[in-house]
Amino acid sequence: MNKERKLIIAGNWKMNKTVAEALDLVRGLKIELAGVREADMVICPPYTALADVSKAILDSSLRLGAQNMSEHNFGAYTGEIAAGMLKEFLVRYVILGHSERRQFQKETNELVAKKARAAHAASLKPIICVGETLQEHEAGHTERVIEDHVRGSLHGVTAAQMADTILAYEPIWAIGTGKTATTAQAQEVHAFIRRLLAKLYDESVARHVRIQYGGSVKPGNARELMSQIDVDGALVGGASLDDRSFADIIKTSI
Ligand code: PGA
Repeated sequence: MNKERKLIIAGNWKMNKTVAEALDLVRGLKIELAGVREADMVICPPYTALADVSKAILDSSLRLGAQNMSEHNFGAYTGEIAAGMLKEFLVRYVILGHSERRQFQKETNELVAKKARAAHAASLKPIICVGETLQEHEAGHTERVIEDHVRGSLHGVTAAQMADTILAYEPIWAIGTGKTATTAQAQEVHAFIRRLLAKLYDESVARHVRIQYGGSVKPGNARELMSQIDVDGALVGGASLDDRSFADIIKTSI
């Protein structure tokens, strides 16, 4: 597919896969995706599998991402993981502000922005998630919520850092539900985010930032979603847990 921006497709494994299972999945992905260079391909295993997966993908085009990180660099923060610790395992990307963290860990835009600044300070590329709930969607508040998430979560992130920032639009009502936004709905929100980036930064930033779509992306709907002009990739949950389906999503999208 001829895209203005290079596609970036990331698998968010969430709280799934032991180390042995993770290595199994990676083995399959390396076979399925051997030779694929057209998209940036990122896998985000749980922390406990990062070390082994990191070694297993050294000879491949797969890149490593984490699912979260602390806004602090070190110190008395029990249970937290700092950017510098992720870097030890050659982690290059980090998902921030996923709706599950906003919902279950009560993460706010302000916290997400702190994490984004900490990620950039450590040269990690944040994948910042934004998205509205079903009620907000049905009440017609999508743009208002997205604007609030984008503005708040990017607070203090500079124009230069935006070149290494990825946004992910994930309508919460589409995550793990089997419901996907129609391609037209996705495109509309992506275009809205891009216009907002032009206001917050400038046209050049808006043109270069990659915006992923997430929420029940599958081999069967990926190509149509990726064909939208402002959809630059996917953040895949459930379908990234299987080598065939994640590889098919990538292969059908490029
Ligand atoms: P899903 O999850 O693909 O299982 O809907 C997407 C996500 O939460 O990133």
